[in-house]
Amino acid sequence: MGKDTKQKLGFCESNKCACLMFLVVVGAIAAVVCVTLLVEDIRDIYDHGENNSSLKWWQKTIIYQIYPRSFQDSDGDGIGDLKGIISRLDYFEYIHVDTIWLSPFFESPMKDFGYDVSNYTAIAKVFGTMEDFDELMKQAKKRGIRVIIDFVPNHSSTEHEWFNRSRHAKDDKDPFWDFYVWNDGITLANGTRVPPNNWESVFGGSAWKLDSIRNTFYYHAFLTSQADLNYRNPFVLEKIGEVIRFWMNKGVDGLRIDAIPHLFEAKDTSLNVPKPVNGEEPDTYKYTKNQPEIFNVVKQWRKIVNEFGPDRFLLAETFGIPKEERPKYYEAGSVPFYFKLIGAKNQCGATAACLQGIIQEGLDISGSWPNFVIGNHDNLRIADSMGQKYADAMNLMLLTLPGTPTTYYGEELGMKGGDYKGLPSQDPFAITSGNPNNSRDSERNPMQWNNSINAGFTSGKPWLPITTNTDYENVNVESMKTDNTSSLNLYRRLAEIRQLPAFRTTNIMFPDKVGKVLVYERYDDQTSYLIVINVDSSPQRLDLRAGDITTGVRIFSTKYVTEERIELGNIFLQPGEGVIIRMDD
Ligand code: GLC
Ligand code: MG
Repeated sequence: MGKDTKQKLGFCESNKCACLMFLVVVGAIAAVVCVTLLVEDIRDIYDHGENNSSLKWWQKTIIYQIYPRSFQDSDGDGIGDLKGIISRLDYFEYIHVDTIWLSPFFESPMKDFGYDVSNYTAIAKVFGTMEDFDELMKQAKKRGIRVIIDFVPNHSSTEHEWFNRSRHAKDDKDPFWDFYVWNDGITLANGTRVPPNNWESVFGGSAWKLDSIRNTFYYHAFLTSQADLNYRNPFVLEKIGEVIRFWMNKGVDGLRIDAIPHLFEAKDTSLNVPKPVNGEEPDTYKYTKNQPEIFNVVKQWRKIVNEFGPDRFLLAETFGIPKEERPKYYEAGSVPFYFKLIGAKNQCGATAACLQGIIQEGLDISGSWPNFVIGNHDNLRIADSMGQKYADAMNLMLLTLPGTPTTYYGEELGMKGGDYKGLPSQDPFAITSGNPNNSRDSERNPMQWNNSINAGFTSGKPWLPITTNTDYENVNVESMKTDNTSSLNLYRRLAEIRQLPAFRTTNIMFPDKVGKVLVYERYDDQTSYLIVINVDSSPQRLDLRAGDITTGVRIFSTKYVTEERIELGNIFLQPGEGVIIRMDD
């Protein structure tokens, strides 16, 4: 454990606390030893320890998510593309980000903007060509930037050649016969064909669709144009394995695995999801999510990427999974995204106690490597969900927590989402579900690069307009570069601070009692830092003296640019204000 500041900080004054800490440490060591013995090959991948030099690249990085459609257009068609991304690579050096994750750019009819792939090893024309992708890899490597790509294994587009083969297959002698999840359904007395059960699609309505060509139902967890692959069929695994090898050979550093909890459905399709009783939450995906067969497949994918060395990274999109599922993803050789901070406002008002609870749950993974996310292409931007005032504070939190942080493009500017109320939705989720509130258009608004018309995103007509609520004339990269106190410059500074050894550890301590201000300590053997963030809606005054430590150096503040020695006994923070204080010895 780190330097003995805990007692002094008043975080942990009693013997009871010291004793608890001891138990926690012993418990953690025991758990690590246990896991080490059980899964030796995984240990190599996920061992972090206290020693920085043993950290893998993905443990030291910030992941930056690019939604290619909205990042930078190069050809004036109003849709972002690969060449656009290449033209912006220097930006990542500027913000000290050295890993980018690209949402899908594969051939697709774009019914779900690329999450409906019609060819896994070809590039959608609207995004460019395979040469553009190769150039992107080359330019990224030149700058030391790692590239993670989206991998959408759960379903393909119904326009994929595989689906075409499968719907035309005559019998099981055809290798594509069982490539998707087909089912004859039930024929009623009056001759009507109905689905075999009441399973629902995430995007609304029955998850079964009668295919007019094969005259059989197919299962789709998402849109009807996104048919689920049948992972009980080894041929599917073989074909998907080829896709993984294709991209690994191109030198990609990792895969973000889309919608992984939906990979399997119960074998027995006569099972209906029970109706909830006494106001219980319905267990809508009881038979279609979190099925135990998932992990064997993830393990196989881990083996495949290991053919290319032990350093390739698998990041699993595990939205809305129960806590008990997380260790299984780690054991299978992937890191499950921890999403709960995204919903903090809705879940529990994003108070200090709420955030601390979510963070602690995120860290409750028996020595595995943590990760935190505050935004993505499926959820409102932080400035909208939490309020603009808290945007910098949330970046401060994200970048000072243990583990790997993921930043969604534009969040480093504290950028708001587009205001598209009253406009027809682009997002098919909103259209199919008939609920405009489901639209994900807002958070997919174009990146704001400068104060010119269309914010430098495109010379044409952007697929989603830049709306005035985002204040793009001020909230844009070029303008913010010149302002020391801008969200962008705060983010850069935080990205530098993250590189300090204390932030590379997973050490974190919370105070005994949570107040209205989020407080935690990050430390290593040498140095201890206090992170203090006022997430409340009114100003707060705090006394953070700890024994004989009464002063520290404020090395970062969302409000002041310069470092300053400050009195710990009298810390005053406006709502949304946050600081990092290096504790004096
Ligand atoms: C994931 C993606 C989402 C997509 C869905 C279906 O949840 O993040 O954008 O719509 O999968 O592919
Ligand atoms: Mg374009």
